[in-house]
Formats: sequence, structure tokens, C-alpha cells
Amino acid sequence: MQTKLVKAPKYESRIVFLCEDMKQKPRDFSGKKGEVLVIYETARTVIYCGLGKKKDCTPRIVKSAAAIAIRKVIELQRDKISIIDPRINSVPITAILEGVLLGSYTFSKYKSEKPHKIKMIEIVSDLVKKKDIDNTAILCDSICFSRDLINDNANVITPARLAKEAEKLTTLGKNMSCKVLTEKEINKENLNLVSAVGQGAPYPPRLVIMEYTGNPQTEEKTAIIGKGVTFDSGGLNLKSSTHIDTMRSDMAGAAVVLGLMKALVMLQSKINVIGIVSSVYNAIGSRAYIPGDIVKSYSGKTIEVLNTDAEGRLILADAISYCIAHYAPSQIIDFATLTGSIVTSLGTTIAGLFSNNDALAKKLFECGEASGELLWRLPIYEEHHDSMKSDLADLRNLSKFKRGCAGSITSAAFLEAFVENIPWAHIDIAGVAFNEGESLGEMVKYATGFGIRLMMHFLTQ
Ligand code: BES
Ligand code: ZN
Ligand code: ZN
Repeated sequence: MQTKLVKAPKYESRIVFLCEDMKQKPRDFSGKKGEVLVIYETARTVIYCGLGKKKDCTPRIVKSAAAIAIRKVIELQRDKISIIDPRINSVPITAILEGVLLGSYTFSKYKSEKPHKIKMIEIVSDLVKKKDIDNTAILCDSICFSRDLINDNANVITPARLAKEAEKLTTLGKNMSCKVLTEKEINKENLNLVSAVGQGAPYPPRLVIMEYTGNPQTEEKTAIIGKGVTFDSGGLNLKSSTHIDTMRSDMAGAAVVLGLMKALVMLQSKINVIGIVSSVYNAIGSRAYIPGDIVKSYSGKTIEVLNTDAEGRLILADAISYCIAHYAPSQIIDFATLTGSIVTSLGTTIAGLFSNNDALAKKLFECGEASGELLWRLPIYEEHHDSMKSDLADLRNLSKFKRGCAGSITSAAFLEAFVENIPWAHIDIAGVAFNEGESLGEMVKYATGFGIRLMMHFLTQ
């Protein structure tokens, strides 16, 4: 899909956004949020799309409406479409473009019959610069790249493939480098938690470190670390059949890192970011790691593995320690589909936020509101740390609380034990990364790519 910016609409089909309380609405159209009405005129098709009450109209509502409108255009099989800037509440037209580009995404690699593809989008506005349109298109392309990685099979998107995708990013522009640790190197470096989780797999683990240096004038650098479990069977603590079939998406945190790094190199942003992907396949089998085993982490702390399904915190812990030891980041943010409990707590549209630093947490929360990718902070108190202490080792990977109480918090407490007082935030995306229900605005079915827009806001605004 190509995008161009024009002053007046030229195509036969066009999208017009209207609020409930605007005049000149067509008949039988109330303008309610997400309402769509197609009107066929002599030489034109007009797709009217409702935005609700004008005073409540925000970028989030506009993005969602734009996604609904563009899906109607696909259904009508139009090749070219003009989109008129509604100029409401100074919501930028880039919000509409975001809704259109993300809302029209489908994963059709394995479909014999491919969905209709729109060829050209014409943005009709004199309020926006072409550069802003181009930047939005790059951001959305990076999010769709991330979604493709999450949606595809676990026998295609292996740890080695994630490493290969990271290496490819270095060819897209300057200031980007990539280092990959293979299984042998992971073992040699004593990244023993990564080795343990990955040891039973048909596809060996990788630790990938991307360095993007867009501002060599400063030492400031943010590390973004992603959980890249390309398939989470649960290991010997095997998942039930109701929870296992979506577990190819357990690398969504890694996909956030890769999508973000792609956007940064394409946009040549003037910041420094270290992107780390810790990737394993959590298998069941005779070579898999065993509940009850004690493993010495990269940091030196020993871990009693009481549940092989609590694998994400293990591979993240080693990645965090390795990152601190080799890259001295000024702050660390990790993204992980870490716990089922976060889905119970916050549902499928809000991600969990945990942090050891109030200023960092506040900034992330605000970027959530600004980007539309919402976060809600949960606490970590001493009792949560205490619940992760082991009698036989330094830590356990499963809390002592009964019935997995406060599971998201205790997993975050486990991670915090490795961050050495560096400003750190953990974002649990288990509920938001993979939409098993119907499309909700630009958050389409299956992989959503949640986190990339949030981080772009955080790093560049
Ligand atoms: N990958 C899962 C978490 C998950 C659940 C992601 C649902 C996406 C959707 C994680 O590795 C896991 O299995 N967590 C366990 C931890 C428990 C054994 C302490 C959980 O949350 O049940
Ligand atoms: Zn698991
Ligand atoms: Zn997992």
C-alpha cells in the first residue's frame, strides 16, 4: 500500500469522518463511534465513518475509526482511496494513517486465497508535512514486520531466525550493529539460565544484541530487552491443551525489540538504544530441564527451578545481567509475555507496568496514554521479594504464595533481583500481544505489535 499527500481528492472512492454533533450528516447516519455507512453517488463512493461526540474525540478514537473504515474499503475491493482530513480537536491526520495502515493488516502467508490489497492511499490535508506521513508509514511498516514474526509458525520463527532478522536490520541504514551469541557461546559465557531453558529444544537458543547509536555525543543509552520464547510448551510442567496453541506468540517481547530497532534505523532517530533478544524454544522431552534443578545464573545467583513453565523470567534474568555487565545501560525496559495473571488483572487492552523508579514509570504511563498503548502500574513490595527466596538456592522461579497469587508481581520481583538499582521497567504484554478475539480498531486479530508505538513515543518525543 502506497501513500501520497494531496490538496484535493482525486479518487472515486473516499472516506469522510464525521462526529455525532456535526451538521451535513447523510441520512440514516448518526455519527456514533465506529459507525460506517456507504453511499453510492453518481460518480463516487463515499464511506462515512463516525467519530462519536466531538468533545470526546481523541487520537485513540480516530485511529480505531480509521481502522474500521479501511476494512470496509477492503471489503468493497477498492484499489485507490482518498481520505479527507476531518481536522477535529487538532487530532493529527497521522493518527488516521496509523489506523489505516495497522487496521488493514492481515496475516495471509498460509491462505490460498489472498485478501484484497489496496494499492494507493491519498491523504487530503494541508495541515501535515510529507515527512510526518512518511515517518508514520515507516513506524507502521515496522509494527507489521513485528506482527509477521509473531504470527508465523514456531518451526519458521526459531531463535536462529530471530537472530537472522536482527542481522538483516544492520543493512537498512547506518549506526546499527548486531552481535549474536550461538548456543555454544551461550554455554561458554555461563548464561546458564538461557542454556537450561533451551537445552531440550529442536532449535537451539540465541542471545542477540543490537546496538543503535544515533547520538554519539552522549553516553545515555536505553536497553530494551525482549522475551523471545519461540514456542512455550511449558516444558515438563506441560501446558494444558487450552493454553498451548497460541504459544508461538511467546516471542512477542522480542518482536517488539526487533520492530523498534527496525523503526529506529529506518528513521535514523538521534538516540542510543541497545536492543536485546533472549531467545529459546521451551520444549518438553528427555533432554529438557527438570523441575527441582538448581541452576547458577550469569549473575552468580543460584535459582531453584520449581516450574519449567516459568521460563521467561529465567532467560530475561540472564539477558539483564549480561546487558549490565557488557553495555552499562542508563536505563532498562523489558517486554515480555510473562504471566497469565496479567490477563486476569488487566485484560487484553492494557499492559502491566512494574518499575523500581517512579519517574521512569510515570513517563512510561504518560507515553502509554499518548500512544494509545495503555499501561497500568502494579507495585512490588518486600513481601513479593521474600516470596521468591529459596531455602536451597538464592532464589526460586515460582513464588511461595498459594495458588499463584500475585503471579505477575512476583515474576517482576524476580526480575528486579537482577537489575542492580539501574532504573528499570518491566512491561508484561501477555494480555495485549496476541488478540484471540475480534479486531478492536487498529489492534487486529492475532499479533498486535503492542509496544512499538509506546517505545517510539518514549524514546523520541
Ligand atoms: N508464556 C507464559 C505466559 C503467557 C500466558 C503468555 C498467556 C501469554 C498468554 C509464561 O511463560 C507462563 O507460562 N507463565 C506461567 C507462570 C507460572 C508457572 C508461575 C503463568 O503465568 O501461568
Ligand atoms: Zn511458560
Ligand atoms: Zn512463556
